[in-house]
Amino acid sequence: MNYDKFLQVFSLITLGVLFGLMFMGGYVSSSGVGLSCPKWPLCPHGLVPSPEFLIEYTHRTIAASTGLLVLLTMVFVLRGKNSVKSTKIFSIIATCAVLGQIFLGGVVINEKLRALLVTAHLGLGLILYSSIIFVVMNIYYTNLRSKLSSSSTLNSATSITSTAPPPTRSNDDKSSVKFFSNKSGL
Ligand code: HEM
Repeated sequence: MNYDKFLQVFSLITLGVLFGLMFMGGYVSSSGVGLSCPKWPLCPHGLVPSPEFLIEYTHRTIAASTGLLVLLTMVFVLRGKNSVKSTKIFSIIATCAVLGQIFLGGVVINEKLRALLVTAHLGLGLILYSSIIFVVMNIYYTNLRSKLSSSSTLNSATSITSTAPPPTRSNDDKSSVKFFSNKSGL
């Protein structure tokens, strides 16, 4: 798999995991278990999950993985030779949003689910989600464009060689013709 293809698959995985996290966040909120794990960043039993805060624990664990995936997507985009400027900018925006979102998640807990903060948490999540969609689509179209342009270059190169005039005589050929024509007195 080449780098561009890898980037396309990696960013798509990031988007999929992020979708799962947003889904999980909605479930945390609607089932009213937002404060089941009252500490931040870790739950009371540290890294060990427990049935009494399993939903919130899962939301945080996926949030940590998503943070890493979004960060890596940005690193890979910035290192990519074919990455266009807007993809780079939106991958940086997404990384800032994911870091802000993880911090805001902690504030939401510490402030005991204050309505405005929970709404801000949802809003920043939407900014993050749309930025990653933009990154994924941009990577896809950049790859498609470079694939099409390389195949059209190949096609035009093939048509040039097939319609090219027959090879001209070299200087040696011409001089031999001159030699024979002189000899024959033509
Ligand atoms: C990339 C990171 C994150 C994303 C994209 C995200 C996304 C979301 C979303 C979409 C909701 C539903 C909001 C609503 O329905 O109004 C939510 C809820 C929630 N999130 Fe996150 N979240 C992230 C990280 C975190 C972290 C790190 C924490 C805590 C340490 C956290 C704590 C919460 C809590 C407590 C709720 C429930 C709020 C309530 O009960 O109304 N989130 N999250």
